[in-house]
Amino acid sequence: MRKRVLSGTQPSGKLHVGNYFGAMSQHIAGQDEFESYIFIANYHALNTIQDPKLLRQLTLDVALDYLALGLDPNKACLYRQSDVPEVTELTWILSTVTGKGLLERAVSYKDKVAKGQAASMGLFCYPILQAADILIVGSDFVPVGKDQVQHIEMTADMAGYFNNTYGVNVLKQPVAKLNDAAVVPGLDGEKMSKSYGNTIDLFDTPKSAKKRIMSIKTDSAAVEDAKNPDTCNVFALLRLFATPEETAEWAMRYKAGGMGYGDAKKRVAELFEERFGPAREKREQLVKDASYVEDVLSAAGRKARGEAEKVMARVREACGIVVSGS
Ligand code: ADP
Ligand code: TRP
Repeated sequence: MRKRVLSGTQPSGKLHVGNYFGAMSQHIAGQDEFESYIFIANYHALNTIQDPKLLRQLTLDVALDYLALGLDPNKACLYRQSDVPEVTELTWILSTVTGKGLLERAVSYKDKVAKGQAASMGLFCYPILQAADILIVGSDFVPVGKDQVQHIEMTADMAGYFNNTYGVNVLKQPVAKLNDAAVVPGLDGEKMSKSYGNTIDLFDTPKSAKKRIMSIKTDSAAVEDAKNPDTCNVFALLRLFATPEETAEWAMRYKAGGMGYGDAKKRVAELFEERFGPAREKREQLVKDASYVEDVLSAAGRKARGEAEKVMARVREACGIVVSGS
């Protein structure tokens, strides 16, 4: 039987090159090999988006982005988290077997609060909802960026707490799957993140994307100087787009000197356009076909919910929760 993978993306803003190489490209590549469940984490996004119209729009945007980038709805199940409302029920059940200490160790919670996000219970319990997403479809692997690995480990812990508490083997412990591009740097060399304003957005206009790429921060080495590719933000992005052969050539040009950072930036802009230009066009077509996108999401939602109901029946049975008629 094919292994199952599941991953989610929050509809909390425009998707960028870091999201793509850190997470989304893996989701799309996995559709041929795995039984893929890819969902739009709209319950999670309520922690930051508290405007209903905007949340609806951003949810649709993530669906459009995935479809435009090549996620094939005949291969992968692309659904809205809220079409599987049982995740909130499983979240509650997991919270009754999970110690507060586990959540207090979550790095991303501390980071977000340190950056000024409100310390709501939703933010604190976010890893439990994430665990429920994963466990409710019995996922084997979870392809994510490096910052999410701790949440996947916590998910495996929570599955273990539940199984041990009830002496069952109902919840499957998942494993995180990392890309080579564990952390993609932004324009300033910090981790690319929408909260740092240092992103290159996937569906930006060609002009604006190029302008942003040309503004990537570099050191002040002169054109003739030999340069170190390993510490250069431009090179870090270039290697994500270029073939291994081209990357090796650029590394030589860096080390030899006689090349300005502007040349490397121009090449990144070209490669960006080659990679995302066709997706931009496809997205423009998809925007005009709202009912197609809605049909894809609702059919996938029914499929995911069907899988979730099977796991939930076993979970309820294990812990003695009775729901009339089921
Ligand atoms: P942001 O930091 O822009 O808010 P998210 O936290 O919503 O991005 O990340 C969504 C997904 O994209 C996660 O799986 C995360 O690991 C991945 N991701 C985001 N930024 C990067 C990055 N700079 N490098 C690698 N992966 C990233
Ligand atoms: N926490 C993830 C992020 O911020 C999104 C997410 C929610 C997720 N549920 C998930 C990722 C389940 C993988 C599996 O990017």
